[in-house]
Amino acid sequence: MEGSRKMPKDFFWGNSVSSMQTEGAWNIDGKGLSVYDVRPATATTSDWHDAIDEYHRYDEDLDWLQRLHMNMYRIQVSWSRVIPDGDGEVNQAGLAFYDRIVDAMLKRGIQPMICLYHFDMPLALAKSENGFMSRHTVAAFVRFSKLVIDHFADRVKYWITFNEHNLYFTDEVFNISGYLTGDKTTADMYTIFHHTMLAHAQISAYLHATYPAVQIGGMVAATPVYPATAKPNDVLAAQQINQFLYQNLNEAFVEGHYDHQVMTYVAEHQIDYDHQTGDEAILSQMHTDFLAFSYYQTLTINADLIPAGTVPNDYLNFGGAANRFLSTTDWGWGIDPTGFRTFITDLYNRYQVPVFPIENGIGCREVWDGKNPITDDQRIAYHAEHIKAMKDAMFIDGAKVLGYLGWGLIDIPSSHADIEKRYGVIYVNRSNHDLKDLQRVPKKSYYWLKSVLEKNGDEL
Ligand code: BG6
Repeated sequence: MEGSRKMPKDFFWGNSVSSMQTEGAWNIDGKGLSVYDVRPATATTSDWHDAIDEYHRYDEDLDWLQRLHMNMYRIQVSWSRVIPDGDGEVNQAGLAFYDRIVDAMLKRGIQPMICLYHFDMPLALAKSENGFMSRHTVAAFVRFSKLVIDHFADRVKYWITFNEHNLYFTDEVFNISGYLTGDKTTADMYTIFHHTMLAHAQISAYLHATYPAVQIGGMVAATPVYPATAKPNDVLAAQQINQFLYQNLNEAFVEGHYDHQVMTYVAEHQIDYDHQTGDEAILSQMHTDFLAFSYYQTLTINADLIPAGTVPNDYLNFGGAANRFLSTTDWGWGIDPTGFRTFITDLYNRYQVPVFPIENGIGCREVWDGKNPITDDQRIAYHAEHIKAMKDAMFIDGAKVLGYLGWGLIDIPSSHADIEKRYGVIYVNRSNHDLKDLQRVPKKSYYWLKSVLEKNGDEL
């Protein structure tokens, strides 16, 4: 007989966003510039200046989340809003905004989760220090983080440091770490990654020592990789990617040291990254209360396409292959709820630390006719299948899962500043180059999700 699939009473259901994709208000109340604020718009993307103006509309947005029966909202505290140049004076007006939004969440029974860095390096530190290439930036980030933790630890019980920390171990690092100059070498990638891990270790050690009741997790972008065929070289390539991009981080978060296979590769290839005496001791202070991740899709690797000598961190730049067993989104992302279950189950089995999917969703092209709710059946199917798969991981495989947060469930511009790639169950009435009225309009999926969460997800 099938056991009960009743969800834990304290399970977190919620939404997840970053500052630059949501807040707007890029130049008011003393905010400093981040690298994103100076990225120009293109014909098909907007700039980052207005986003969905949540800075001014947070009360309305939180009302929507409350009506959806959500009990968690993951926001980011923007470094350049709180410390405009990254390492100088504190901007009290910036902190005051986060006071307002956090208090407004708590008033509605919504637990905040705070992320401390989501790609938007203060421009001043990008220019003077080349972002996380410099240990000065690490110290400045640790200072900022401690300040924010001290300010909010009485109200915010869940924290993460770096959004999708494993992206700092791929060549995406050069877009998200404030790196403005250099040859984008493998050694630079390893240096920046190591610096961000040192920052994470110091921040998590501080939080645990100072606020024992507060939790902090490491986070990765989970795009698990399948071998394109049963050919041993495809299987080996997939193993290497999964080890470098997932296990290396999760092992560090849980056990306080890098993965053996990765360190062997570093020694064998003499990767000359900035590694100093005492760094191991800092890393060893790491301890994670939960393992967080984003999950949208799985990928497939064909080893024949990877040039000899490529570092495993870069394999996916060459070896990606289509997976004929999956349907795809409008942007070609493979829809794979079973992969979601496999990832959750495997992650929990390895470390027996609670796992937490804090981003999931589907980007779709949608046009509102000005009257009727958008019919987004594809989104309903996507979330239904992923929630069911997560429940399979919990109730069939025994994984401990803390919650499920969707990404951008009130529409926000995508990571390329493209509002036409929408993840929301609530439509925001703007296009890339026309802010219109920014009205929030529930889609069909809003009513569906509300009815699911009303029953704590028990019926899926
Ligand atoms: C995650 C990022 O990788 O995916 C977000 O944390 C991003 O910033 C989200 O928006 C969805 O990706 P995209 O490219 O569709 O916006």
